[in-house]
Amino acid sequence: MTTLALDRPELHPISRKGLPAYPNGWYAIALASELPRGGVVRRHFMGQEIVAFRTQSGVVSVIDAYCPHLGAHLGYDSTVEGETIRCPFHYFCFDTEGICVSTGYGTKPPPKAIISAWPSREKNGLLLVWHHVEGAPPEWEIPDLDTGDYHPLINRQWDLTSHPQETTENSVDIGHLAIVHKYDDVEMLSDLNTTGPYLNVSYAMRRGAGLAGQLMGGIRSEFEIHVHGLGYSLVEVKIPRFNIEARLFVLPTPIDAERITLRVAVSARKVTQPGKIHSALGFLPKPLILPILNRMIPPYVLDGLAHDVQQDFEIWQHKVYFAPPILAEGDGPVGRYRQWVKQFYCGNPATSF
Ligand code: FES
Ligand SMILES: [Fe+2]
Repeated sequence: MTTLALDRPELHPISRKGLPAYPNGWYAIALASELPRGGVVRRHFMGQEIVAFRTQSGVVSVIDAYCPHLGAHLGYDSTVEGETIRCPFHYFCFDTEGICVSTGYGTKPPPKAIISAWPSREKNGLLLVWHHVEGAPPEWEIPDLDTGDYHPLINRQWDLTSHPQETTENSVDIGHLAIVHKYDDVEMLSDLNTTGPYLNVSYAMRRGAGLAGQLMGGIRSEFEIHVHGLGYSLVEVKIPRFNIEARLFVLPTPIDAERITLRVAVSARKVTQPGKIHSALGFLPKPLILPILNRMIPPYVLDGLAHDVQQDFEIWQHKVYFAPPILAEGDGPVGRYRQWVKQFYCGNPATSF
C-alpha cells in the first residue's frame, strides 16, 4: 500500500464485539475464477471500497476503488485496457501498481494521480488480499497446494454480523461439535500446534448421514485443520468409509467493523476407484460411473459444509465476546487459541483476549 494505514483511522476501529475489527493477515475476496482476463470486481473490504481487475496478460491487481482524478468508483463501468484499468469518467488509465499512465485527453498524467494498491495473491484457486493495520507488507505467505488431483473450487457465501476471530475459534471449540453440529465420538487425533501465524489441529468424529449413515452406526470423518491467520482456514477431510477426500476452505473477510462475508469453498479429490466408494460400483464400467460420481461429489460435499457452517450462524450473529473466557474441561484448546490470536493485532494494547 502506498498510503500508511496509520494515517487512516477507519482502518482500526473496535468492533461491537470488543475486538479490533480488522486483524492482520490474508483475506479472500473472490475465487480466482470470478476474475477472468479483462474482468473487474468490486468489494466492500475492511470499511473501504476496493476493486480487483485482471489485465489482458492475466495479472491481477487490487486497488482502492476511487479514481484520484475526480472520484469516480472504478467498480462501475470501468474497463480493462491492456495492462491497465480505465476509469469511465475521463478515461484515465491506471496500471497494476495504481499509477496513472494516461489520460483520456492524451495529456501528461498528473504525478499525484496514484491509487493505493493492496498486496494480493492468487493461491489455491482463491484471490487473497493482505491487510495490515499499520500498512506493513506481507509478513508471511499462504502455502501453495498441489491441485492436480482435485476438482476446481466451488463456493457459497453469506454476509453475517461476526468477526474472523469468532468464526475461526470454531476450529478449536471442540465442545460445540457434539452440541451444535450433533457429531458423536469426537476424538482428538492431534493436539493443537502453532508455529507463528499457523495453527494446526486434527480430530475425528462420527455422524449418521441419512438412513445409510444411521444403519452403519454413523460415518466417521477425519478433519485436519490448517489455519493461516484469521482469514484463511483449510480443512482436509477424509471419509475413509467411502474413500472420499476433500479440501474445505473457510474464509471470513471483514466487510466493515461489524460484518463479515463468510465464504466457504470446496475442492474434492477426483474419484478414480468407484469400487472403494461402494463395492457394487466397482462392477460398473468406469467410463460410465466416474463422470457421474465426479459430478455428484463436489456439490454433495459443499452442501454438507454449508449445512454445518449454517448451524453456527444464529450463535455467531447474536453472541458477545467475553475476554478472558470462563472455560471448562471439555472445551478444547480455546485458551491457547486466544493466546495465539494476539499476534494478529497491533496498536490496540488495551484489548484483552
Ligand atoms: S474521475 Fe476518473 S478519470 Fe476523471
Ligand atoms: Fe461450528
